[in-house]
Amino acid sequence: MVRRSLLAVLPMAAALGACRPDAPAATLPGPRAAGNGSPVHGEAGPGGLRQAGVDRPAQPQTHAVVSVYDLPPQAGPARVAARLGEAVLALTAKPGMALGVDGGDLTVTVGLGPRLVGPAVLGVPGGLELPAFAREERTARTWGGDLLVQVCASDPAVVGLADTRLARALAAEGASGRWSQTGFRPPGNGPVRNLLGFPDGIENPRTRPELDREVWLDGPGPLADGTIAVVRRLRIDVTGFLAQSAARQEEAIGRRKADGAPLSGGEALDRLDLSAKTPRGRYLVPAMAHARRANPNATGSGRMLRRGYSYRNGPTDQGLLFVGFQRRLRTFTATQRRLDDGDDLMRFVTATASGAFFVPAACTPERPLGSSLLGERR
Ligand code: HEM
Repeated sequence: MVRRSLLAVLPMAAALGACRPDAPAATLPGPRAAGNGSPVHGEAGPGGLRQAGVDRPAQPQTHAVVSVYDLPPQAGPARVAARLGEAVLALTAKPGMALGVDGGDLTVTVGLGPRLVGPAVLGVPGGLELPAFAREERTARTWGGDLLVQVCASDPAVVGLADTRLARALAAEGASGRWSQTGFRPPGNGPVRNLLGFPDGIENPRTRPELDREVWLDGPGPLADGTIAVVRRLRIDVTGFLAQSAARQEEAIGRRKADGAPLSGGEALDRLDLSAKTPRGRYLVPAMAHARRANPNATGSGRMLRRGYSYRNGPTDQGLLFVGFQRRLRTFTATQRRLDDGDDLMRFVTATASGAFFVPAACTPERPLGSSLLGERR
């Protein structure tokens, strides 16, 4: 069994760069550390600037909005992405000026959809197109999309103001909104409870080597310092799930509700022991428990960084705004397929919005957003 202390593996942004590292001093914000009260777009990675809101701040802010847009067919994607990047830099460098309020720990993360990132770039058939999965309520408006904008902050007003500001910048370029969803997470350090009452986000890559191996793409090339985001709005039949006995709920997840400890034994943050059995030969983590089904040993895939938010649009439309970051789309698709084949939690879950996006390196005034992929036409 692997024991880990969350406190030991959550290094708070040791050396974070600014989003404008080489701009003149008059406009240059000092080095920023996401989560310490300074808005951030870009943070120094091994070779360049990575976008914030992926693995930094290490503890996700308590509020978020995810918005997905389409570009008009005639729009030059390079130009729109560059303009969006400028708006993001203005927001995170001078939030007081851009928003009229203190930006706090605001982060903005932008992704480019499958139409903008062709299959050739990723080197995998289908590129960023997600296949069909079970229990999906597809609508033309909520499936796919050209641009992903994720805004996170501790203050929901800051989230709303920043999202409104970015929506205006995109509308000026002819982009149209597809769907948008606000989300929230309880405050806390480490995993926090979801709408089913279970601690969520326990099993995630956390250390720098894990994150570099599982989440970030390395260079050289257009993908360097990028990652792939999968965003899905997952409606949960919360009433139905909670109507089960407490023991049945825990069997559906594979962990205890009180503290998240694995049903195979151990403490709150321990990994599952998938081989542990009762004296009568039954798995302690049941065969259809969600955490067993999603475990990379079972899926044969890499690990994803799950950084989702709960959402609640009313008693019959609530659930998880799933946000997962990984360096290969297959990590998500292989996991989701395995959940589709049988999972005692997924019986209560329906996807109502979905998309995959490439999150390119962070932008600077000198390097427009997405320019490594889309070129620099402005
Ligand atoms: C409404 C939908 C979902 C809910 C409420 C949910 C909740 C949970 C909970 C409570 C855990 C156990 C604690 C933890 O390790 O975080 C967990 C684990 C996990 N979930 Fe989900 N989840 C959902 C959907 C998904 C989806 C769509 C995927 C990916 C396709 C996914 C991937 C994982 C993974 C990889 C783990 C860790 C498994 C391991 O122990 O290795 N989950 N989830």
